[in-house]
Amino acid sequence: MDGYHVALVIHLLTLVAAGSVSAIVHLAESRGSRAATIGEAVPWHRISGSAARFFPIIIVLLFASGSYMVTAGGGWSWSTGWIDAGIVACVLLLGVGGYIGTRARRAGLELKQLASQPGGAAAAPPAHDPLISTLSWANTGLAMSVVVVMTLKPALTDSLGTLVAGMAIGVAYSLTRSRGTAVSGETAAG
Ligand code: HEM
Repeated sequence: MDGYHVALVIHLLTLVAAGSVSAIVHLAESRGSRAATIGEAVPWHRISGSAARFFPIIIVLLFASGSYMVTAGGGWSWSTGWIDAGIVACVLLLGVGGYIGTRARRAGLELKQLASQPGGAAAAPPAHDPLISTLSWANTGLAMSVVVVMTLKPALTDSLGTLVAGMAIGVAYSLTRSRGTAVSGETAAG
């Protein structure tokens, strides 16, 4: 196996890791947002925060292994459309991920502060920040669209269009989910 294929294996294994971390974060976010009390919400918040810390490492590994393949003579160059789209996606994933992390950390600190007050753990948690879920599903949609772009290798315009479509699908999925949660909450409340 040559260097190119070692890098491709690292690239694909990193993607498997990304899927696993993403599943943990989405599950924890979903459970945390449905928690009935602050005491119930805090551990889910902690799990999602700890798992999300791996995202920047994952993006750097994808970028590094991808860059190695570009320079290792696989026939690609820095001006290849789908490669440029991959770079744009990594920058977006890091930027949006950083913003989500900042908002989630702020919400986590507020939860911990409320939990430390007398009777705080048994109180109802503050309303979940919907932007966190929406952006985090947008990032998942974006990452999945990069898989399509890397596999089909279209020209730049089509590659960028695929990224936009992936993000839009992620946002639409998140909005549908939160509407479903609101409707089931109303039904449960009678
Ligand atoms: C979120 C980021 C990324 C994801 C999800 C991703 C995903 C993938 C996938 C699934 C493949 C396998 C495609 C195939 O073998 O047909 C692949 C291959 C590849 N990726 Fe990425 N990638 C990402 C970022 C990048 C970046 C930033 C670069 C370049 C700087 C890059 C360069 C490459 C190259 C050169 C290949 C090899 C293509 C081949 O040999 O057919 N990737 N990537």
